[in-house]
Amino acid sequence: MRDTVFFLGKGGVGKTTLSSAFALALARRGSRVLVVSLDPAHNLGDALQLKLNGEPKKVEPMLDALEVDLAYWVDRYLEESKEELKANYSYNTALNLDSFFSILKYSPGTEEYAVLWAIEDIRRRLAPKYDFVVFDTPPTALTLRFLSMPAISGLWVAELTKLRERILRDRQTIVRLNPQSPVAESCVDKEDDKVYGKLKNIRTRLTSLETLFAKQSFMSVIVNPDELSVSEAIRIKDELSRLGIMLSAVCLNKKGLSQADWTLASEFNQLPLFAYDFSPNGIHTREDLVHIGIEPFIDYFLGKRKVKNE
Ligand SMILES: Nc1ncnc2c1ncn2[C@@H]1O[C@H](COP(=O)(O)OP(=O)(O)O)[C@@H](O)[C@H]1O
Ligand SMILES: [Mg+2]
Repeated sequence: MRDTVFFLGKGGVGKTTLSSAFALALARRGSRVLVVSLDPAHNLGDALQLKLNGEPKKVEPMLDALEVDLAYWVDRYLEESKEELKANYSYNTALNLDSFFSILKYSPGTEEYAVLWAIEDIRRRLAPKYDFVVFDTPPTALTLRFLSMPAISGLWVAELTKLRERILRDRQTIVRLNPQSPVAESCVDKEDDKVYGKLKNIRTRLTSLETLFAKQSFMSVIVNPDELSVSEAIRIKDELSRLGIMLSAVCLNKKGLSQADWTLASEFNQLPLFAYDFSPNGIHTREDLVHIGIEPFIDYFLGKRKVKNE
């Protein structure tokens, strides 16, 4: 069941605007909705005219919103990794963990992991209280990186698991040949092995995020009537399909903004298309958001859900 919605697209196309409008309209139809900003440069609160933080805040009776505190999730991820290393390698005092982790904070991949664990937390702890969770996403580069993280890390973890299995098998062989061997003191069974258990646990977590993105999410890409936003949408579509994630809909936002020659690429022919006119006076209030013309999209989305449930 696709009860999670992502709005993707180039910066400025209207991800924050349409995710807010979609969440508002869905909530006004009677669903319990949580709208979440994953963009480190948050402006969901501006769109909804409410100061937001990392925990859900009531926007309207059926709608809550939050802005993920990425710095908190980076620190939490590093802190947890540090504690784990300390617990497993307590004998290794030569390694200065604190300075190692202060470098890791800025290393590639850290931000993506932080986004992933934030999504996992929302999914486990908050999503059960809502019918739908709507995600307003960061710029494309970061979005594609965190969406691909479960699959990429999954490969790594699978290889590490194989390696660990081999180590345990070798230990068993040694102990069989020489029961007096000091190896007999260490763990030889998968079931008792802490490292194997940890790998299994991380694999389960990554698989469940992969399933969330590929099977439980309604992915909408937004374009404007310009070539650049369409090229970026094609890139998103291609990258996602490599990950086994299919787009569910295309939104053409700011229709009428430009008179320049423009066509939606044939790549999107098979997908339902929803258009929103450019509002020359801008979008300032929540009422402006619900009048953007999101209703057909909501009808389609809810209709799909009914068919899926039957
Ligand atoms: N249909 C529209 N008509 C007029 N202005 C729009 C429309 N959609 C978005 N905007 C404006 O465009 C700007 C960028 O939109 P935003 O939703 O913040 O984009 P993104 O989140 O993709 O970066 C904002 O000022 C927003 O109010
Ligand atoms: Mg935005």
